[in-house]
Amino acid sequence: ELFGVCGACTVEIDGVSARACITFAVQADGSDIRTVEGLGTIAGMDRVQQAFRKHHALQCGYCTPGFLMTVRDLLRNHPLKTDDDIRDGLSGNICRCTGYEHIVRAVRELADEREGAAA
Ligand code: FES
Repeated sequence: ELFGVCGACTVEIDGVSARACITFAVQADGSDIRTVEGLGTIAGMDRVQQAFRKHHALQCGYCTPGFLMTVRDLLRNHPLKTDDDIRDGLSGNICRCTGYEHIVRAVRELADEREGAAA
């Protein structure tokens, strides 16, 4: 049995990305949960959603919620100095349409933007 492998169900539990499919409800009791629905809307997208849109970082969209939530965590907690850093950070999420290059481009823009803001 394989659980927790594809990353499509990734959510934030108390600000940390977690796989919903391998989290017991009791573990999340009393926690602050954010799902992809808690990001932006079509009219007012979250910055990560904007970058995915700009770089066409999705095809069928099945994996997209998990990638968006993972990228938010990566941007908060990881250096992402190189594209290999980004690929390592995204390695727990699988895109069946294999749209990885566009996803990496979107994250590269966000990581560069973050570095610029920190300078
Ligand atoms: Fe189809 Fe990733 S866009 S699975």
